[in-house]
Amino acid sequence: MKDTDLSHLSWDDWDEHHNPRPEAPEFDAVVETALSRRGFIGSVLAFGSGAAVMGVGSLLSSTSAEAQAAGRFAFTPIPIQTDATVHVPEGYRWSVLARWGDPLFSDAAPDLDQATGGDLASSDRVFGENTDGMELFNIGGRQVIAVNHEYVNKDVNLPASGGDVASAEDVRKLQNLQGVTVMEVAQGEDGWQIVVDSPFNRRIHHNTETRIAGPAAGDPLLQTEADPEGMTALGTLNNCGSGRTPWGTYLTCEENFNGYFGSTDADFELPADYARYGIGHEGRYAYEVHDARFDVSQTPNEPRRFGYVVEIDPANPDSRPVKRTALGRFKHENAACAVARDGRVVVYLGDDERGEYLYKYVSNGYYQPGGPTDHLLDDGTLHVARFDTDGTGEWVALTPEATGMSEVEICVLTRQAASAAGGTTMDRPEWVAVNPIAVEGYCALTNNSRRAPGWTNAGGDLVEPVSGSPNPRAENRYGQIVRWFPSNDDHAANLFRWDLYVMAGNPGVHADANAGSGNIHQGNLFNSPDGMQFDTAGILWIQTDGDDSNEDGFAGMGNNQMLAGDPETGEIVRFLTGPQGSEVTGLTWSSDRRTMFVGIQHPDAPFPDGEGRLPRSSVVAVWRGDGGLVG
Ligand code: FEO
Ligand code: CA
Ligand code: CA
Repeated sequence: MKDTDLSHLSWDDWDEHHNPRPEAPEFDAVVETALSRRGFIGSVLAFGSGAAVMGVGSLLSSTSAEAQAAGRFAFTPIPIQTDATVHVPEGYRWSVLARWGDPLFSDAAPDLDQATGGDLASSDRVFGENTDGMELFNIGGRQVIAVNHEYVNKDVNLPASGGDVASAEDVRKLQNLQGVTVMEVAQGEDGWQIVVDSPFNRRIHHNTETRIAGPAAGDPLLQTEADPEGMTALGTLNNCGSGRTPWGTYLTCEENFNGYFGSTDADFELPADYARYGIGHEGRYAYEVHDARFDVSQTPNEPRRFGYVVEIDPANPDSRPVKRTALGRFKHENAACAVARDGRVVVYLGDDERGEYLYKYVSNGYYQPGGPTDHLLDDGTLHVARFDTDGTGEWVALTPEATGMSEVEICVLTRQAASAAGGTTMDRPEWVAVNPIAVEGYCALTNNSRRAPGWTNAGGDLVEPVSGSPNPRAENRYGQIVRWFPSNDDHAANLFRWDLYVMAGNPGVHADANAGSGNIHQGNLFNSPDGMQFDTAGILWIQTDGDDSNEDGFAGMGNNQMLAGDPETGEIVRFLTGPQGSEVTGLTWSSDRRTMFVGIQHPDAPFPDGEGRLPRSSVVAVWRGDGGLVG
């Protein structure tokens, strides 16, 4: 999002505003290739050939380019859009399943009050704000979606004050609108709807009691006056991407937790470990002013109780969410699970900040369907990815020997451990997806405006463009998707081969590496890949959270969108476009795979209710008019 209004900054830009890096030296963009060693992108390695040398004035007709790309996909790709609604291919339909403010329970107001954005009493009884990662669970034949509410938009959620957070009541309302919704959904005569008052319906928010588990549970680093044992934290923050375990629970991932903390004492000396995580004196929503728990001058250990992956059992509405400290503490994007050949549980994890790392957790225990699972995410080893320029890489174990840190410190100060172990600094790892029909993982590296010679992350690790690496471009504004092929077809293996599945770019504007890889053409332009999920057929669905100005280097990209990619051929085609200003994020399917549910987050346009109404983050249902499979 290009925006100078602080209330509308993306989290990345908010962090940048509060923790600016030094200005960049002028330099020519370093253009190096690190594309496929597998072959299908090989023919397009030559940047500057073909489409890449076309001028802006000689763009291909989008329609003809899209038609060329239909390939293995069961739809005709669609053109870009810049309007205020959702578009899907011909023969497909969509409708709204849930909007911010829609009641989960009949005691909540049935309609969103446009003047107030809803009252405090209803705020934890409705579908929350800024829908993000989600998963659908079939529980005894009932379809239950667990879905994240990442953050809030103050001006939209507090319209009466124009977004001014003026009271403890305002803070509590914002806290209630974030976290997680668990809701039963069903398809009736009016299409897909929330099952209001279902016993599965539940809101988990910033004050919900959670259990801290794993190596850091009970450690003095996590103890507070309110929780002297360090075992019980209130709330889960900035719930971004998601995951699902092999045993049918939901994983919600705490991303930009730092932005909720501040200090009412401007002279309070911040603990040394805060800097790496961007925890400063001023929070984004004035929580610290009205809720002492978020005032680090009073509760300095509280921020160390956030930044984890949290497991939720959607089948048991009375269960406490569990913070799994063994999966590390950082700005967790999502959690992609796989089962290794021997039954160990593998979880891939991205840390979404410029120049941070990609991780993998491997359990010590073995998953047995129907067997006990509680230990599987508490007892294991974190690894950080090191990508070498010869197309191989290694998952480096974060052990006390490798890091010089204790097991607890590795779990709580994971970024520092990864730096010590020599991981590869990445271009903002967003979602990881694991192919269900091939042993390979994919990570969306969304963009990195700061990658340049001499730059470092907050830990002092170089964040330079490296020829032949997964992060080859300086001032990377378009993003790329890296994938890896574990040795011996085993997700638990420490070694892998890797390549770039795609480098987004704009061949109509650039003739260098910013043209993108050869599977980018005028019919599928996009930037900033973010959300990713595989369907059961092995199609990779890619969602974007990027610059939707449709101008200059982003000309021809339109609004944020969802595309489908074929891992075998490299083809990528556009399936859906979101309303102006929105991010498309979160994807799951109905049990029969005939409906997909897609998240539309923070539209600027008054979606979906129309002019004069508040914009509402929404989940939309998408299906084929002929009732066919969509995943
Ligand atoms: Fe919440 Fe990195 O996306
Ligand atoms: Ca994201
Ligand atoms: Ca993003």
